[in-house]
Amino acid sequence: MAGNLEYMSSESFENLSYEDRTFAPTAEFAANANAKSDIYELAKRDPVAFWEAQANNLHWDKKWDQVIDWQLPFAKWFIGGKINASYNCLDKHVLEGRGSRVAFHFEGEPGDTRTITYGQLLTQVKKTTNALIELGVKQGDRIAIYMPMIPEAVIAMLACARLGAMHSVVFGGFSADSLLARIQDADATLVITADGGYRKGAPFALKPAVDEALKGKTKVKNVLVVKRTGQPTEFDSGRDIWWHEIVDRQSDQHEAQFFDSEQGLFILYTSGTTAKPKGIYHTTGGYLTQASFTHRIVFDLKPESDIYWCTADVGWITGHSYVVYGPLINGATQVIYEGTPDTPSKSRMFEIIQKYKVTILYTAPTLIRTWMKWGDEFPNSCNLSSLRVLGSVGEPINPEAWMWYREVIGSNRCPIVDTWWQTETGAIMISPLPGVTATKPGSAMKPLPGISAEVVDDEAKAVGNGRGGYLVLTHPWPSMMRGIWGEPERYKETYWSRFNGLYFAGDGAKLDKDGAIWLLGRVDDVMNVSGHRISTTEVESALVSHEAIAEAAVVGANDEMTGQGIVAFVILRGGIESASGEQLVKQLRDHVAKEIGPIAKPRQIMVVAELPKTRSGKIMRRLLRDVAENRAVGDSTTLADPNVMKLISEGLNSAKSED
Ligand code: PRX
Repeated sequence: MAGNLEYMSSESFENLSYEDRTFAPTAEFAANANAKSDIYELAKRDPVAFWEAQANNLHWDKKWDQVIDWQLPFAKWFIGGKINASYNCLDKHVLEGRGSRVAFHFEGEPGDTRTITYGQLLTQVKKTTNALIELGVKQGDRIAIYMPMIPEAVIAMLACARLGAMHSVVFGGFSADSLLARIQDADATLVITADGGYRKGAPFALKPAVDEALKGKTKVKNVLVVKRTGQPTEFDSGRDIWWHEIVDRQSDQHEAQFFDSEQGLFILYTSGTTAKPKGIYHTTGGYLTQASFTHRIVFDLKPESDIYWCTADVGWITGHSYVVYGPLINGATQVIYEGTPDTPSKSRMFEIIQKYKVTILYTAPTLIRTWMKWGDEFPNSCNLSSLRVLGSVGEPINPEAWMWYREVIGSNRCPIVDTWWQTETGAIMISPLPGVTATKPGSAMKPLPGISAEVVDDEAKAVGNGRGGYLVLTHPWPSMMRGIWGEPERYKETYWSRFNGLYFAGDGAKLDKDGAIWLLGRVDDVMNVSGHRISTTEVESALVSHEAIAEAAVVGANDEMTGQGIVAFVILRGGIESASGEQLVKQLRDHVAKEIGPIAKPRQIMVVAELPKTRSGKIMRRLLRDVAENRAVGDSTTLADPNVMKLISEGLNSAKSED
């Protein structure tokens, strides 16, 4: 079972010298902040009434009869309420006179731009909804979305939600095989994609991966294809339809129907500790309540004046909650960017901040560390004085990167919110509140109002200040996952069996002497590479599906830039020459990219004669991590064969790759 504190990096503990450094909000910020200091007390006094008040900020066609039904571990929120996600994101604003407000400033990587108001977005969503109806999409259907980061990705999601169909967005960097597995698991009937997108200065293709995936057995009837790059694209005339050909001729009238609060809104797949990704299932009323509430208070959003930019792709939960649902419900004006941070130059993102006068920036530590490495001259060449709040998400932010973010990007002026949450939690759970919290560099500080988290030991006892343990959530929250799609037992086993009645997040954490929470990384077999979750077993099973490989073990090793890097140890099948070394390693890396996607390519692959295993056959990844991180190998007395580690260290036939 997952849960091994040995996995926590010792480096993180050293960061605690930073626990004495605090950055209090300025009086001016505090005076104007959305969050007031009594909000914690208010929520604590009556959490149910607190969440009810937040839900009241949404438009409900019919109010709920009951706030929560909690049959551990299954929750329902705002039972009996009727709501439409798309209506709350769009119609509400247009009806209340905000139709001419910009919803998105879209910046394509080649430099093309589009400005889309709430009114225009609503029209596009209505037309797309009508196109989906023409294609036979109904409430409850599952629709796979495999898109670059262009406005149509958001439009497609909102059109699904408008109909009560569930979207399953698959990140465009995943392979055809990964896409197929997700299409099959959810029984998707329609795929929405694009011919391609732009990345690193060149067009890339997406549609061929869809064609490849659909050679597998699926229930997909149609593929809707946005023309983004105009590159030659094969078309199956009985199945494929150009987006513009069907959407453009639709009526711009569509009245949203209101669905039950617990209507499925989306499935989003994420890596677990087995090779099969988990379909994290979210519903509507509770999810929208927490996504919009947290977006408002954590980022201190002032919709009339702020320009908000979350750099996440819609293929991840951050894109769902903090590009689509949270910000649109709050009427935010956003920037979205299609491409990479260094195209055409390393100043690209700073130029975008300057151009649109971005006020709130929400990004990931891996990008912050990359910017740090590139050098201060790039941010310094642009005017970033519009910024007023900075956010971080996806992995622990090391104090040095936090300080750099504060000093160089925020000119020592902007509060930083380090937000801890997960695909499963749906929305932010632990974070400072700007204007209220005195922050510490590298700490996510404390649970948001209405949220209860604790750090516990192996016996589920709270550890107390100054100690480390496992992060658990002790009470249900509105945007919590409602299950793993089609796998209720796996849901119980993964999250609720480790500690009786508590949600086990899979993260290690430490409480400092003041009780502030410091996240220490995963304690299970899940790696976090550039903020993306990848399971060790998923990469292992991709490796062993290659004809040359008999066995594989994968670990996440510390990586200065990406947080963790994937390091694989493989045993070759008999008859395969280990001398074919470098070429084989390249083949294997490409093979993993084909099986899962380029994000899962191992940084390093080492060919070994044996793997360290316990007597019960479990691979001791801890020892492999010692090797991968060039440390003396730790206690190996529980190994079935104590000589294995010596063999590995001596006989390493390693090859390090460039990209
Ligand atoms: O390990 C934690 C890490 O990312 C995991 C969740 O990954 P995912 O579901 O892909 O969602 C990422 C975006 C919400 C967590 O279990 N994580 C996320 N945010 C932080 C973090 N670790 C430390 N600090 C954070 N702020």
